[in-house]
Amino acid sequence: MAVRRRRPSVPRADYETGRLPTFEKRRRAWRAKKYVWRKRHGAWGCLAIVGFVVGCVHIVNVGLGYLPLIHDDPAAAALDWSQPNQASTDMASYLLDVTKDVTPIPCHSHNDYWRRVPLYDALRWGCTGVEADVWLFDEDLFVGHSTQSLTKNHTFTSMYVDPLVKMLDSKNKNTTFLPPSELNSTAKLGVFDTAPQQTLVLLVDFKNDGSQIWPYVSSQLATLREKGYLTYYDGAAIHEGPITVVATGNAPFSLVVANSTYRDIFFDAPLDRLYVEPSSSDAATVSTSGQGTVGTTPGSHFDSTNSFYASTNFQASIGRIWWGRISGRQRELIRGQIKGAHERGLKARYWGAPKWPIALRNRVWWDLVGLGVDYLNGDDLVGMTRFDWSVRRHWSWLR
Ligand SMILES: *[C@@H]1O[C@H](CO)[C@@H](O)[C@H](O)[C@H]1NC(C)=O
Ligand SMILES: *[C@@H]1O[C@H](CO)[C@@H](O)[C@H](O)[C@H]1NC(C)=O
Ligand SMILES: *[C@@H]1O[C@H](CO)[C@@H](O)[C@H](O)[C@H]1NC(C)=O
Ligand SMILES: *[C@@H]1O[C@H](CO)[C@@H](O)[C@H](O)[C@H]1NC(C)=O
Repeated sequence: MAVRRRRPSVPRADYETGRLPTFEKRRRAWRAKKYVWRKRHGAWGCLAIVGFVVGCVHIVNVGLGYLPLIHDDPAAAALDWSQPNQASTDMASYLLDVTKDVTPIPCHSHNDYWRRVPLYDALRWGCTGVEADVWLFDEDLFVGHSTQSLTKNHTFTSMYVDPLVKMLDSKNKNTTFLPPSELNSTAKLGVFDTAPQQTLVLLVDFKNDGSQIWPYVSSQLATLREKGYLTYYDGAAIHEGPITVVATGNAPFSLVVANSTYRDIFFDAPLDRLYVEPSSSDAATVSTSGQGTVGTTPGSHFDSTNSFYASTNFQASIGRIWWGRISGRQRELIRGQIKGAHERGLKARYWGAPKWPIALRNRVWWDLVGLGVDYLNGDDLVGMTRFDWSVRRHWSWLR
């Protein structure tokens, strides 16, 4: 370095003559300084630039993670939500096209209302679970994440019940043309053409007073119920229909089980309370997390006659992920919880799993599926339904 710096071609400042430096000299001196600075700091500069670029890529990466939330399909965006009837009619016909050739995937579309057309994205990507957060105000149920996001026309009926009824009516209107061997008088076709027996889980998150909301949800489901589209329990067995309604949040378990001869709203059982030793069959109760436990007692028994999902917050129940991988102890805990859910005939679901970095998220998803989890929960439907997370590991930070 030192040798190269003294090369004759290097411009050097020359003040030895004692005269005031001319403009040209000053310029040369400045250039020389700049050259030396560059030589000294060039490496750091390069590092800084690389760091800056990596930082930018990460910011873009995080941004892309939220892209599905803000980037609607243009056709979906064209639907006018301010006209309730038009919206649900257009949406139903729209959804019919959407579900023609998708393969259903056991993922649960959480925070669905963030999308302009809530059912649309979930069904387009084949998610077999959707979620509606409902609030009771002025004798009606409104859908939204918080009270600020509620608008008059976004009701549970207009955004979920009506479109589903129209869609299922349309799919089922031709069943009388089916040959008698395929005709099953009570079984209705579901929303997915490629898997008509697949039920769609409608998870209803009760946001304010659960016992007040309950009768409204139950009565607004009447159309679906009367047309035979709901999964129900008749006191002896479960009859699976195109839609399975599951209640969570402040939904009281006591109301779910109040009627022992007919149920069509099922509970989202607390997965962290269902732990059984993975290697034995002894049930053991682990601490509660506060999710979905309204109206339950320590002795509450969750099984498929009263519950469908068994869910818990990943972070609260399993803990933080260190060093980018699920630890052995965490793995055993997950295995035990899933085993407990399956022994009761429930579907295990974790929410609140790490979302970022993408590579970590994919790894956790991959592990959860490997451990037997039934439903993946997330906002990134594209990511969830891609299912090739491990293959893309090297590139996953770039998506
Ligand atoms: C709800 O829909 C009606 C028309 O049916 C419209 O006049 C009204 O502005 C809409 N309200 C909101 C908040 O979008
Ligand atoms: C129902 O059946 C009729 C007559 O077979 C047919 O023209 C029509 O396209 C069918 N509709 C649907 C939605 O499959
Ligand atoms: C519907 O069809 C399936 C298979 O064909 C049969 O096992 C089931 O009992 C039928 N259900 C009813 C209610 O007839
Ligand atoms: C249970 O629900 C069925 C159907 O809605 C109703 O006929 C019956 O009276 C209910 N039983 C009780 C104990 O509420």
